[in-house]
Amino acid sequence: MENNKRPENMERITTKELALAFIDEQISALREQIKDRKVLLALSGGVDSSVVAALLIKAIGDRLVCVHVNHGLLRKGEPEQVVRVFRDELGANLIYVDAVDRFLDKLVGVSEPEKKRKIIGAEFIRVFEEEARKLDGIEFLAQGTIYPDILESGPVKAHHNVGGLPEDLRFELVEPLKFLFKDEVRMVGHTLGLPDNMVYRQPFPGPGLGVRCLGAITRDRLEAVRESDAILREEFANAGLQGRVWQYFTLVPDYKSVGVKEGLRSFEWPVIIRAVNTRDAMTATIEPIPYELLGRIVDRIVHEVKGVNRVLYDLTPKPTGTIEWE
Ligand code: XMP
Repeated sequence: MENNKRPENMERITTKELALAFIDEQISALREQIKDRKVLLALSGGVDSSVVAALLIKAIGDRLVCVHVNHGLLRKGEPEQVVRVFRDELGANLIYVDAVDRFLDKLVGVSEPEKKRKIIGAEFIRVFEEEARKLDGIEFLAQGTIYPDILESGPVKAHHNVGGLPEDLRFELVEPLKFLFKDEVRMVGHTLGLPDNMVYRQPFPGPGLGVRCLGAITRDRLEAVRESDAILREEFANAGLQGRVWQYFTLVPDYKSVGVKEGLRSFEWPVIIRAVNTRDAMTATIEPIPYELLGRIVDRIVHEVKGVNRVLYDLTPKPTGTIEWE
């Protein structure tokens, strides 16, 4: 088996100095491994793939080809941020693929959560494969594998799902973060100059908002998830809770309830808020959100998000509830 054990003498990267030393070491190692050849990377904008991209841009410049697939299930502003940070600021060779219609069309009428996950995963590989086939001379595939992915500890599912590429597209792997724990990846990303909201962002599932738009996804309800999530994140950031609460998001079920808006009866969706703390995602506790803040979030969501007339706050720890609803 390939060397997949963190070297025993490897110091934990806890300071900027140690991160700088790691970056220098990796840049030399990457140049040595890749030489003048080309590398392909699926850049989701998540912490791990972003740090891999920033490291490789430093090491080999535009011989790194990044592919960002917008599957329509990302949070508000994320695809734009990937393009801004990597193409505009870091000068990355970035291919942006607008695959929103493809994914959403495939998901029409599909309500079973695992089936939704399978469709999203399979379609992602298909889109990535198509892009890879258009490119010449790629010999390496970079992946944001980190040490917990190798240890397979906990239920935070691996999102490095380009492993399912067909036989003739098997590239040599480049995995510069494979011995790092998450906090070390963040320290390296911060030291490389990536924005804080990219480096310190909360975990986000691979199928994205697809598992938070419960049941069969519709475009209007998906927008309600995206907009309410953006409001929640903005209010948490303003209240200084960003980085202090492990994971917080909204979801929208596929049923409606009666309400009243501007004196008229409304029949619209509820938005459910989830905000949890955990060490390893195996168990989770509920973050006590100040009532005043909750009130402001409710007020903004029912007034700013189309199709929503109610907001609920899920107070269930894990167990018995999981963190996600699907
Ligand atoms: P649950 O809902 O099982 O979630 O308590 C535990 C953690 O895993 C994340 N999660 C996923 N991550 N693909 C992912 O990459 C998935 O399909 C998926 N489902 C859940 C969830 O957000 C939480 O952090």
